[in-house]
Amino acid sequence: HPPSFQMGESSGLRPANCRAKGGAPGFKVAILGAAGGIGQPLALLMKINPLVSVLHLYDVVNTPGVTADISHMDTGAVVRGFLGAQQLENALAGMDLVIIPAGVPRKPGMTRDDLFNINAGIVRTLCEGIAKSCPNAIVNLISNPVNSTVPIAAEVFKKAGTYDPKRLLGVTMLDVVRANTFVAEVLGLDPREVDVPVVGGHSGVTILPLLSQVKPPCSFTPKEIEYLTDRIQNGGTEVVEAKAGTGSATLSMAYAAVKFADACLRGLRGDSGIVECSFVASQVTELPFFASKVRLGRTGAEEIFPLGPLNEYERAGLEKAKKELATSIQKGVSFIRK
Ligand code: NAI
Repeated sequence: HPPSFQMGESSGLRPANCRAKGGAPGFKVAILGAAGGIGQPLALLMKINPLVSVLHLYDVVNTPGVTADISHMDTGAVVRGFLGAQQLENALAGMDLVIIPAGVPRKPGMTRDDLFNINAGIVRTLCEGIAKSCPNAIVNLISNPVNSTVPIAAEVFKKAGTYDPKRLLGVTMLDVVRANTFVAEVLGLDPREVDVPVVGGHSGVTILPLLSQVKPPCSFTPKEIEYLTDRIQNGGTEVVEAKAGTGSATLSMAYAAVKFADACLRGLRGDSGIVECSFVASQVTELPFFASKVRLGRTGAEEIFPLGPLNEYERAGLEKAKKELATSIQKGVSFIRK
């Protein structure tokens, strides 16, 4: 393949000044790991997003096919494909938002931490590319274990002198999406009307749904709280087991990733009142990173909201979450500093 291959821009049959202008005004977005289980439906959904003018699809395999396929969609975004490490720099140049679902997913019996050895190195390489080619881009990090990969990314950016904590966002949106769905099922509501804050991190006990703060205001029995907390914390494992060795959540994750990316783009555009949960550098607890509600604006996570009042059950959950999170964060930091 040539240094990069482009599709969806123009046929080249007519001189430039005669061509219809492809591509609406909007933002430039790159997906790293775009040929994967999450990457493909994520690319599809971002090609439909009216806020996206240019969509760069990067992977180490199979991007020519995915790019050709996606580029035939008659939506505004221009699609370009990039294959292999030597094209990473071109894939990233000029991007406003970089979404990273690159890396191996879980198989039954694995924890997210079991992915560390492979995914830590992938995230490091990709973030070195970002520091070089688009240091001001907003980064949405999906690759697991998020509790460690976000600290890894922060250390890479610090080393490169480009670190801006507001622009590095770990994607925990799937936990919120699941929580909204499961709570709506219990309450008999439309999930679109339900808003459950989920704080902490993105694995097991670090996933802390704040059921006392659900909107619309409601109350749960102790049995419902046990059921919901357990199901939200283990929603990923539910999918891993149902897929029986063929992967983890990809379709619901692509949906969640787009919901979050779209919120980031609306923030970049200057919309007000955009608030979502994300795993970010934080002073909400004594830990250096924590997921909570953040306000997204032109420069990324512009405001990080405190947890609000917790009940006794949630306070106990918070202590457990912090213990595990501290270890995962330290593991990520050490991976780069060692
Ligand atoms: P997958 O294996 O289907 O796709 C991963 C893609 O990454 C593959 O196409 C692979 O070629 C690519 N890749 C590998 N090394 C790369 C590199 N150095 N540069 C660019 N691309 C590279 O996996 P899937 O199901 O898409 O999951 C991806 C990641 O997302 C996993 O780490 C998984 O654990 C995580 N995940 C995170 C969730 C979250 O809520 N944050 C939810 C679900 C999955």
